Amino acid sequence: MTAQQRIVLGVGGGIAAYKVAALLRLFKESGRHVDVVPTEASLQFVGRATWEALSGRPVHTSVFEAVEDVNHVRLGQEADLVLIAPATADLLARLAAGMANDLLTNTVLASRAPVMVAPAMHTEMWENPATTANIATLRSRGVTVIDPAIGRLTGKDSGPGRLPEAADLFAAAERLLAQRAPSASHAVAPGPLAGRTVVVSAGGTREPLDPVRFLGNRSSGKQGTAIARAALAAGAQVRLVAAHLETGVPDGVELLTASTALQLRDAVDQACEGADAVVMAAAVADFRPADYAGSKIKKKGDDGAPTLTLLRNPDILAGLVDRRRADPGKGPAVIAGFAAETGDDEGSVMDHARAKLARKGCDLLVVNEVGATLGFGTEENTVTILAADGSPETEVAGTKDEVAEAVVTALAAALNR
Ligand code: CTP
Repeated sequence: MTAQQRIVLGVGGGIAAYKVAALLRLFKESGRHVDVVPTEASLQFVGRATWEALSGRPVHTSVFEAVEDVNHVRLGQEADLVLIAPATADLLARLAAGMANDLLTNTVLASRAPVMVAPAMHTEMWENPATTANIATLRSRGVTVIDPAIGRLTGKDSGPGRLPEAADLFAAAERLLAQRAPSASHAVAPGPLAGRTVVVSAGGTREPLDPVRFLGNRSSGKQGTAIARAALAAGAQVRLVAAHLETGVPDGVELLTASTALQLRDAVDQACEGADAVVMAAAVADFRPADYAGSKIKKKGDDGAPTLTLLRNPDILAGLVDRRRADPGKGPAVIAGFAAETGDDEGSVMDHARAKLARKGCDLLVVNEVGATLGFGTEENTVTILAADGSPETEVAGTKDEVAEAVVTALAAALNR
């Protein structure tokens, strides 16, 4: 029997505290023992009962509760990681000053484990010289500071200050835990993709017509980036080939960027060198304008409109399969594609998907039905994962993170076959 890794999850008094409930679930699902230590102020946002129910442990904020357990030193001494999210400006100041005026700050002082803080606050507070100095102090002491994400804040304003998503914090914590010297008592099972390199393409390509216009598509990149995150959490090295994204790049990936389909093909080919698996989640334009106008196309006459001539873009996914067929030792062992389909007079979503699988010859095909309200830019997705012979491996309906986990499970299974 190997002992569980122990995490102290400190929760500061910010509205982003609600996101930490999802982070706690990820830690619990990964088999960790978690003690939640909220600040008193944070209980205004998420109550003690939530933390006790999700962690299965008693929750205290003060050193004067459960004194017989000597929590103020025991929690810190036993921890493998102390992670604080959201870290408010006030909490950062108390940590930087070395204060010990509640259970959380006591625990940090009494611990030799790595400490990770994820600040979240309004941009003005984050950029205030006092906060900047406190962050510098903490970093100089070896504390890992996860920079806040940029985006919508609590009010109408937006800017740097958002707490990163739970899956990103989880991936960052996993990396820090993995760097800990492995000791027999703290060994954890390696993830199903440990030692593997996985390439994921995500987002939509843009084919320029002139300096201001392009042909694009509605892909947000959320499903592809979720797969990159899930692969990181499963222990893989991840190369993300990003076309245009409406979502953040997961922390910890090796990033390659591309705008057009031709650039994406070159970036995917480069990323696939030495990789074990590739997932083509990007929405690649099938056509590009034959001509690019170096200056903005102008209206001519009263009602004339230009005629666009389009050229076919290469099929990147089929190209990867063809190359591997020509030289079986070359290219990733598992090649997975996506099929965004709508049913029509010629067949159902699955008819079209199986025809696509046969055409492309990939090892896995993730099929999702798209339409005006399905698939694009939404948080949820419903997919069927088809094996190379067209048989359904899995069906998943859930968040894009849940779909991503199913894709990663199918990838790991295919790599082990
Ligand atoms: N794909 C690709 N290169 C292209 C077009 C698509 O690699 N030029 C990949 C996508 O990343 C996806 C899969 O092929 O993994 C299927 O994409 P999809 O748009 O559903 O299919 P198409 O190949 O465009 O086929 P069709 O137009 O018949 O639907």
